[in-house]
Amino acid sequence: MFEVDDTLDRSVLSAEVARTVLPPTGGSVLDVGCGGGRAAMSLVPPAERVIGVDQNPAMLAAFTTAAADAGARSITIEGTWPDAVFDTPVADVVTCHHVAYNVAEIEPFIGALTGRARLAVVLVIPTVHPMTAWNNAWRRFWNIERPAGPTSDDFAAVLAEMGLDAERWEMPRPPLSRHTSDPATQVPSTLRRLCLGEDRADDVADFLALHEPDWPMVHSVFRWPGEAD
Ligand SMILES: C[S@@+](CC[C@H](N)C(=O)[O-])C[C@H]1O[C@@H](n2cnc3c(N)ncnc32)[C@H](O)[C@@H]1O
Repeated sequence: MFEVDDTLDRSVLSAEVARTVLPPTGGSVLDVGCGGGRAAMSLVPPAERVIGVDQNPAMLAAFTTAAADAGARSITIEGTWPDAVFDTPVADVVTCHHVAYNVAEIEPFIGALTGRARLAVVLVIPTVHPMTAWNNAWRRFWNIERPAGPTSDDFAAVLAEMGLDAERWEMPRPPLSRHTSDPATQVPSTLRRLCLGEDRADDVADFLALHEPDWPMVHSVFRWPGEAD
């Protein structure tokens, strides 16, 4: 179940894990929770057709532009997965990056991904839920102990319970954008996230100067066989 493959270049590991199952030409990728299409476009070429599903229409517009820039044919479906599955064509590979922790009912979500993949599903999540990064701050400002999960081990357990034979790799998280550590954006976003008023801005700035949020450092990459005809 748990496999570390050191022969793959870690910086592009998730793309390699998908690319190795795509046909050399003419392949298709369905990207669920596609955002601007980072996962799908990393597979063009060899993929020639990309399908983006997202609940946010602005993200789908960005996906369409990115596909045109990459030279791929594209369609988009606006909707929430798994409900959107009924409007969504099958593809060779289904990608789903940084969405799964957002999902309340994970089994139907995984079932719908699997049912739309001819060859494989490739799903990426941080090893722990990204909101755990704020646990220290919740303790400091509200004296609240927040959960330390869910984790990618929990996700692996769900796949096993569903009888899906998944491979798994771990890769270092790509560098964070500069905005993430810029106090000008980090203080207001921390105030919002912790439900604190503007009057606590100085306290939050002092806290952040000493305690960087504990961002997950590692991403888990899962690949399991698709079940579409
Ligand atoms: C953190 S972003 C990741 C975007 C992209 N996959 C990437 O890795 O760059 C999550 C995206 O998933 C979308 N999303 C979250 N839950 C979804 C769901 N159940 N169905 C469809 N889209 C969803 C959000 O609108 C957002 O665009």
